[in-house]
Amino acid sequence: MTMTFDFSGKNVFVVGGTSGINYGIAQGFARWGAKLMVASRKQDKVDEAVAGLKELGAQTGGTAFDVRDYAAVEAGFEETAKFFGGPIDILVSGAAGNVPGRLMDLSPNAVKAMVEIDLMGTFHVMRACYAHLAKPGASVINISAPQAFNAMSHQSPVCAAKAGVDMVTKSLALEWGPEGIRVNSISPGPIDGTEGMARLAPTPQIREAVTKSVPTKRMGTTDDIAKAAGFLSSDAADYVSGVVLPVDGGWGVSGASVVMTHAAGFMDKLKGG
Ligand code: COA
Ligand code: NAP
Repeated sequence: MTMTFDFSGKNVFVVGGTSGINYGIAQGFARWGAKLMVASRKQDKVDEAVAGLKELGAQTGGTAFDVRDYAAVEAGFEETAKFFGGPIDILVSGAAGNVPGRLMDLSPNAVKAMVEIDLMGTFHVMRACYAHLAKPGASVINISAPQAFNAMSHQSPVCAAKAGVDMVTKSLALEWGPEGIRVNSISPGPIDGTEGMARLAPTPQIREAVTKSVPTKRMGTTDDIAKAAGFLSSDAADYVSGVVLPVDGGWGVSGASVVMTHAAGFMDKLKGG
């Protein structure tokens, strides 16, 4: 990554920061000098991420909790506050789950899992973080998705949950703005090498169709998203709040719905549906 920011002396907590896009964001802040905490459900993933971030030279801690369990989230923030010994300057909330499928092929419990992780999990993280945020000065970033504004077949729970996440972002920008807290979302496009894309574009043919459908003709990288998180948390974005920032090569304005609906139909055929 060539872009550089200076986040030395800043405390950054990335929830869901142990793999994929969110881990890429944590790596960005590690390179830019921040002190870090990461969290997700699985202790082994937390340990691996902490070790990787320490290799980048960052003072890093980790904690395991499920964002669906409010008491556990609150306890995770207490642990984080102790590790930092001061307020959280930058909070990234990106835990999510995706099981692609037509509504009638998904069990009620699968739908519940997605809505509870993506939407209720965001509410839980937002509610638990508030007491620990730097006031004024904190930057809060929720990780959204194109499903929030591009309806997609086989994605109804994620579409509904991420649309909800964007409204949480905007509502909290109103509620917390007077205290000097900025709240924004990033909506990543299709990001290469991630679990999300492995689930949504599982074959070379679907990958190619998705890549061609992006106006800039490439999938994104986790670095692309880290740079946007760095920008939104920097002084350059001092007056930016309540924004949902697509970082997607123009995918969201170019028919992401159509290609993903074709891709989902193709996956059904592969499964014999
Ligand atoms: N196809 C159909 N249904 C599935 C499924 C799949 N591939 N994977 C899980 N489910 C169903 C389960 O059968 C269960 O429903 P049931 O109780 O009616 O059988 C329900 O989803 C919950 O599954 P469970 O494994 O108990 O959930 P969990 O809470 O441990 O995990 C998930 C949550 C399902 C979202 C899981 O996929 C996950 O951990 N995702 C994180 C990684 C990810 O999705 N990354 C991409 C981010 S965009
Ligand atoms: P990922 O690697 O699976 O990341 C998800 C993270 O959330 C992991 O650290 C996971 O770790 C954690 N997590 C999942 N369920 C959790 C729970 N219940 N409680 C706490 N932590 C939980 O997937 P990704 O594809 O990089 O996606 C990251 C984010 O980007 C998500 O918000 C996703 O919606 C968004 N996004 C992705 C894409 C893409 O192209 N991949 C595009 C648009 C938006 P554990 O398993 O240890 O819990």
